[in-house]
Amino acid sequence: MRKKLIAGNWKSNGSLERNADLLDSIVGAKALGSVDVVVCPPFPYLPSVGDAVSGSKVELGAQNCSATEEGAYTGEVSARMCADVKCSWVILGHSERRALFAESDDVIACKVKRAIDSGLKPILCIGETLEERESGRAEEVALKQLDAVFLSVQPDESWVVAYEPVWAIGTGKTASPNDAQSMHKALRDNIRKHFPQIADKIRILYGGSVKSSNAKELFSMPDVDGALVGGASLVSEEFVSIIEAAVE
Ligand code: 13P
Repeated sequence: MRKKLIAGNWKSNGSLERNADLLDSIVGAKALGSVDVVVCPPFPYLPSVGDAVSGSKVELGAQNCSATEEGAYTGEVSARMCADVKCSWVILGHSERRALFAESDDVIACKVKRAIDSGLKPILCIGETLEERESGRAEEVALKQLDAVFLSVQPDESWVVAYEPVWAIGTGKTASPNDAQSMHKALRDNIRKHFPQIADKIRILYGGSVKSSNAKELFSMPDVDGALVGGASLVSEEFVSIIEAAVE
């Protein structure tokens, strides 16, 4: 039985004041304990958010880390630094990083390697564009993105995969529960082919316009193990309702 995981990707949003309000409700959520919860604020807020969640069951994640070692890389934030400020997780390969910051599968694999070497657990994002879905290539694209990392860095069961169809991110369009299930099953079957020992243990999250009104139905699918939430993770009642929807 896989425990559900709900991760909030705050993207480039937040302020000290807004974060404090949001976290007050999240750390008080009754479902903590039966559901794993991770919040991923922007880099500058990691220490203060880490302080706010310490002693609670909410875990801290970064939204990215560098593919480089530490050194003369102006503006880069290394995986070790994220671990140093108490991150347990790091989101890697998000479609916004792939599309807007030209991150290739090779760069993402390199970041995953740095993350695990620093003791961080990766939340690896994969997913197809609308054009790729409409041309019938959704599975092929997602499996290729998965294999690019899994076959170059040996995964373990603590890793998390987030299937986030690009056309569903921030658009209000969600994959239907059946479409999500069918992709998640294809991903798990592919993992089973190469790494049978972890296939039934690794969690596969869905992401893309998840909100309190669609969460329960998505979570009822056998291979949907939780959600990576963008917009709705910034609204405390919404995020707490999504966490509650994940209680078995
Ligand atoms: P939305 O929930 O805003 O669609 O964003 C999803 C996402 O990109 C999470 O990483």
